Amino acid sequence: MIKSKVEILISTCAIFLLFFVHGYDCKIVQFIFGDSLSDVGNNNYLSKSLARASLPWYGIDFGNGLPNGRFSNGRTVADIIGDSMGLPRPPAFLDPSLNEDIILENGVNYASGGGGILNVTGSYFIQKFGLYKQIELFQGTQELIKAKIGKAKADKFFQEAQYVVALGSNDFINNYLMPIYSDSWTYTDDTFIQHLMETLRKQLTLLHGLGARHLMVFGLGPMGCIPLQRVLSSSGGCQDRTNKLALSFNRATSQLISDLSSSLPNATYKFGDAYDVVNDLISNPNKYGFTNSDLPCCSFGRIRPALTCIPASTLCKDRSKYVFWDEYHPSDSANELVANELIKKLGFKPINQTGSASPAPAMAPAPGGN
Ligand SMILES: *[C@@H]1O[C@H](CO)[C@@H](O)[C@H](O)[C@H]1NC(C)=O
Ligand SMILES: *[C@@H]1O[C@H](CO)[C@@H](O)[C@H](O)[C@H]1NC(C)=O
Ligand SMILES: *[C@@H]1O[C@H](CO)[C@@H](O)[C@H](O)[C@H]1NC(C)=O
Repeated sequence: MIKSKVEILISTCAIFLLFFVHGYDCKIVQFIFGDSLSDVGNNNYLSKSLARASLPWYGIDFGNGLPNGRFSNGRTVADIIGDSMGLPRPPAFLDPSLNEDIILENGVNYASGGGGILNVTGSYFIQKFGLYKQIELFQGTQELIKAKIGKAKADKFFQEAQYVVALGSNDFINNYLMPIYSDSWTYTDDTFIQHLMETLRKQLTLLHGLGARHLMVFGLGPMGCIPLQRVLSSSGGCQDRTNKLALSFNRATSQLISDLSSSLPNATYKFGDAYDVVNDLISNPNKYGFTNSDLPCCSFGRIRPALTCIPASTLCKDRSKYVFWDEYHPSDSANELVANELIKKLGFKPINQTGSASPAPAMAPAPGGN
């Protein structure tokens, strides 16, 4: 009797181990699509890209303090949200150490500085991945994983994963609002946003066709208040028109996500933005423990072109008290505020990896945008 109990125990363990090693369906990982706000190193491998966070002082408050590809002193919003859900941080797609095992354990991040919803966006950065390109790369990842673990397991793996799509500001800042791009004279504010929505609808539908079921889309912040926009006016104030475009984009995206979440089978697509809280932070930095909400912490004096956080730049005294890290990008502490707002709004909870063997019900009623 005792012997057979031991045998049962052993075989259960073996099955468990086997399941753990081969049953990759255990693990929930993230696939991240985005721009410089989510890039964790892709552009650093694009040697011709003009949008790279490869020099000091980028990354000064992250890990060993060396540049790691993030366009910030510390973490991205997606880092902080993923951490709060207990999910591993996905490596950059172009990271040379990426292989099937790492993908199955950690997911992949395709985000690329300068990228947008539209292919043409950010073309003056020469090299970057727009959203269509990122989806194409994701298809390649799927082929690799199918070859490794078989189609059925791969399908389950991709359906249980969490997806983040966070792009849009470059479609305005590095496209529509720049006269060198033909979109700036082809469209009006309304028709441009319509054009973005038609494109994003196709892209998110494409991702659904590839298995994405749990997907969150992040809206835009008050991008008319980034230091680079403020220098456009003599007063140094926020660009009202740019902020209005961000608000219109957020309204339209919220509607689109709520449509898709109710029309695509088994889809839980959520939209969240932190526009209001960041706007309040910019107007009342002291209320949130910040001291500066208009200048970049890393700056090169009066010379203020696009990417001026360079080794010769000077840093502000207390990086945790500046809203902006460089001309475009928020600091780690501002990202934390944004992430916490999204966690609250979208109700993100820690994911139970051990409980995921039975798939989470994906048929829940569409939550709608908010
Ligand atoms: C956008 O780029 C992708 C490849 O990256 C291409 O397949 C697609 O046709 C392009 N779409 C448009 C509308 O140009
Ligand atoms: C939706 O979920 C149900 C139940 O899990 C499944 O049978 C069906 O194939 C799914 N449909 C799609 C399109 O994923
Ligand atoms: C995770 O899920 C498993 C199986 O459903 C359950 O036994 C366990 O208590 C859960 N853990 C947490 C922390 O919720």
